[in-house]
Amino acid sequence: MFHTSLGRSLSLFGAACMLAVGSHAMAADAPIVIKFSHVVADSTPKGQGALMFQKLVKERLGDRVKVEVYPNSSLYGDGKEMEALLLGDVQMLAPSLAKFDKYNEALQIFDLPFLFDDLAAVDRFQASDEGKGLLTSMEDKGIIGLGYWHNGMKQLSANKALHEPKDARGLKFRVQASNVLEEQFKQLRAVPRKMSFAEVYQGLQTGVVNGAENPWSNIYSQKFYEVQDYITESNHGVLDYMLITNAKFWNGLPQDVRTELTGILEEVTTEVNDQARAINDRDRQAIIDAGTSEIIELTPEQRDDWREALRPVWKKFEGQIGADLIKAAETANSAG
Ligand code: LMR
Repeated sequence: MFHTSLGRSLSLFGAACMLAVGSHAMAADAPIVIKFSHVVADSTPKGQGALMFQKLVKERLGDRVKVEVYPNSSLYGDGKEMEALLLGDVQMLAPSLAKFDKYNEALQIFDLPFLFDDLAAVDRFQASDEGKGLLTSMEDKGIIGLGYWHNGMKQLSANKALHEPKDARGLKFRVQASNVLEEQFKQLRAVPRKMSFAEVYQGLQTGVVNGAENPWSNIYSQKFYEVQDYITESNHGVLDYMLITNAKFWNGLPQDVRTELTGILEEVTTEVNDQARAINDRDRQAIIDAGTSEIIELTPEQRDDWREALRPVWKKFEGQIGADLIKAAETANSAG
């Protein structure tokens, strides 16, 4: 009896140990999953960056970390992705810098029209102390910025030829969820409509909006050129991204994994930012080849007129962004 009951206890103990060991082994084996959700196509700078990150993580971290990439708003659209990150439902995003004003108003700087002369100036500002400071500015909100990724300069498209600022009057333009961009179109006496990226094609097709502003890579990959007769090569602003992660997730990673991921992200960031121009040039040419939209080039005088017409936007947001930060960004134009 005694013998049997001891035997049973021992075997129960053994089973419990095995279970414990088993579940421990399972926990050790289960990879850390990084869901990376975004709203654009695989062929764009951000789409390519996400895939490159996935590939390098697989090569270097093997079974320890698994990256799942969800492009084209297939997991979350841009209205919901930030919330999902904060809830821990996704671990990485790269939203456009236009989508952060709720978390840090200073980031609105990137939307100011005609602030940066070109992507090289954007690069210099992002690499400056001020630019790097913005990456770490949302940690108290649970968001860590891991780097800036370029897309490119924005072009204005519409179902009407836009040569001068007054040509935009009365037209409805889709804007990202940004108060600065909303104000930009108000200055032109046009009508801005905030709309998520996934809805833009249909919005343009059905006439809910008449125009939009996008880099060439987004115009091409979303086929906006099919539903816009004119594209003005305005280069009036930048569309770039902040690669972000959930602070609790990131800080909770094993040290060696975090170090390896940081190294991979540095490589990917360099590559994305080197490739972004070429991708946009390629897609610009593809749009010209498609022959469905007329590409309008501005004379230097016309470009100055657009710049002057939009200048009041800066003053309106100077208080929220900070005059010093705007100065730092302007300095980046001449530092080349
Ligand atoms: C947009 O909404 O137009 C962009 O932010 C989309 C993107 O991620 O490039």
